[in-house]
Amino acid sequence: MIQARTSFLILFVIAVVAGAARSATESSTSAAQELTPPSELALLMRAMAAHADSVKAGIARGEKHLPAYPERIKTLLTATPTKDMHIDPITFPTFGKDYQAKVRALYKAARKDRSTAYNALVQSCANCHSTHCPGPMMRIKKMYMKVEG
Ligand code: HEC
Repeated sequence: MIQARTSFLILFVIAVVAGAARSATESSTSAAQELTPPSELALLMRAMAAHADSVKAGIARGEKHLPAYPERIKTLLTATPTKDMHIDPITFPTFGKDYQAKVRALYKAARKDRSTAYNALVQSCANCHSTHCPGPMMRIKKMYMKVEG
């Protein structure tokens, strides 16, 4: 009886200590995330990816209009990147201007040519990501759409 009570007590102590340790690590990770919010460029990228996704969905549904023109992309060449992220002074602006040109071309394209123009836009994301920040490449590769005919 005494033994059973002792082992129960030991288990109880272990559970309390483990719980305290877990909540301590949880609060320290969330504090670290708050200290390093996403960069201006990372936030712009999320908006660019969301814009491209909604263009694709709209074309697939046969919608007449494209989503609102993404005016924020004007800041692509000046948005502040994540600290210590290498931004190449030659290729980044070259690929950045190419992406901006592909967005303009998409908005000028005839409705039947939109899926081709959209794929050219996704290609411009992939081109820059082949030299900068390769992490999102898998996501970008899945963004292409099938062109009919
Ligand atoms: C001119 C180069 C360039 C172009 C074009 C470009 N990217 Fe990026 N992308 C980057 C760089 C550099 C980062 C890292 C930004 C940072 O961490 O500050 C990034 C980050 C990202 C991220 C991660 C954002 C985050 O939450 O940290 C995603 C997702 C992404 N890009 C998707 C896209 C998509 C989709 C497109 C096309 C619609 C695109 N990118 C076009 C250079 C580019």
